[in-house]
Amino acid sequence: MSKTVDEILKQHVLSKEDIVKLLQTNKEERNKIFTHAAKVKADYVGKKVYYRGLIEMSNICSKNCYYCGIRLDNKSAGRYDISDEEILNAVKFAYESNYGSVVLQAGEISSPKFTKRISNLLKQIKELSNNELGITISLGEQPEEVYQEWFESGAHRYLLRIESSNPELYYKLHPKDKKHDYETRLDCLRSLQKVGYQTGTGVMVGLPFQTYEDLANDLFFMRDFDIDMCGMGPYLEHKDTPLYEYKDLLMPIESRFTLTLKMISLLRIIMKDINIAAATALQAIDPIGREKAIKVGANIIMPNVTPGMYRDNYKLYENKPCTDEEAADCTNCMEMRIGITGDDIGYGEWGDSKHYAKRIQQQP
Ligand code: 5AD
Ligand code: SF4
Ligand code: FES
Repeated sequence: MSKTVDEILKQHVLSKEDIVKLLQTNKEERNKIFTHAAKVKADYVGKKVYYRGLIEMSNICSKNCYYCGIRLDNKSAGRYDISDEEILNAVKFAYESNYGSVVLQAGEISSPKFTKRISNLLKQIKELSNNELGITISLGEQPEEVYQEWFESGAHRYLLRIESSNPELYYKLHPKDKKHDYETRLDCLRSLQKVGYQTGTGVMVGLPFQTYEDLANDLFFMRDFDIDMCGMGPYLEHKDTPLYEYKDLLMPIESRFTLTLKMISLLRIIMKDINIAAATALQAIDPIGREKAIKVGANIIMPNVTPGMYRDNYKLYENKPCTDEEAADCTNCMEMRIGITGDDIGYGEWGDSKHYAKRIQQQP
C-alpha cells in the first residue's frame, strides 16, 4: 500500500517518489505540507523575515535565455542603465529605512569595465553604510577572478539560479552554445562557494516540458550542492520571447503558483536552515503571493528600491508588481504585508544564512 501524506512527512528522509507524490497533492493534503514546513521554519530559522532592498541596476543583457523578457534579441525592451549616483541614492534609502541588506541585480555583462564599476560600487556601499549593509549580488556568470574581486570589495552573497538542474530541459530554455552552457553554470556555482560567498540558486517552476520528477531532482540538486540560499519562482510567459510558443503546454497559472509554494515548503523541509526568498514573480500571480510564501517556509523578501522611473523596464516577465511605485511606497506596504503573516521583520539585521555558518564551521 502506498504511504499517506502524513506518513511521508513523518519520515526523516524523503525519497524522490515521496517528493513527486507531495508535489501532486490536492488542496486538503497540501495544507499538511504547508503546516509542516511552517513548523520547520519556526524551529530552525524562526518566524522572522529579512529584507534585501533590490536594485535592478540595468536591463542590458548579453544573453538570450528563451524565457526572459530582457534577452538580447528582444528589440522591444527599452534598455536602461542606472547611474552610480542613482544606485547609491537607492542604497542610501535602503540603509536609512533599516533594511539591513541590499541586492544588486542586472542583466549579464562581462567586461573589465563592468567588473571595475561593480567593485567601486561595492566599496562605496560599504563606505556609505559604515560597513553595516549586507550586500548580495546577482550579476550572472563571471570568471572566478571576478567573483573573487567582488567578494574582496564587499559582496558576501551571490545569487545564480540554475533555472533547471536537468541539462536536457536547460537546453530547451537556453540556446545550445558556449554562452549558455550548463556546465559553465555549474562551474560558476562551484567558484562562488570556493571564493566564500553565501551561495544561492533556484529554479523556475511550471516551465513547459518540466515534469514533477524534474522538480524533485531540482530539490535534491540544491540539497546535494549544499546551497545556502534559494530563490525560486513560477515561470511566467512573456510574449516577446521564443518560449512563448509553448504556452499551450503550460499548466494554468494558479497551478504554477501552488506548485511553487509546494516547492518552497518542501525545500524548507529538506534544507531546514537555509534562506529562502519569497520571489516577486509570485506576486505577479496573486496580490499576496509573497506573503503566502512566507507562511509556508520563505524567510527573505526583496522590496524593490529601484528608482520608480526604471522599474517598468526590468520586465523579465509580464504583470510585474510594484512597477508604478517609488521605494517609500513599498516600505509602508511591505510592513503591513509582513504584519499579516505574523512574522517579525529583522530590521537592520543581515539575516545571514544559518546554513552557511554551519557549512563554514565544518570545513577542514
Ligand atoms: N518568468 C519567471 N521568471 C523569470 N526569470 C527570467 N525570466 C522569467 C520569466 N519569464 C527569472 C530567472 C532568472 C531570474 C533573474 O528571473 O530565473 O534567473
Ligand atoms: Fe539575461 Fe538573466 Fe534574462 Fe538570461 S535570465 S536573458 S541572463 S537577464
Ligand atoms: Fe511595492 Fe506594495 S510592496 S507597493
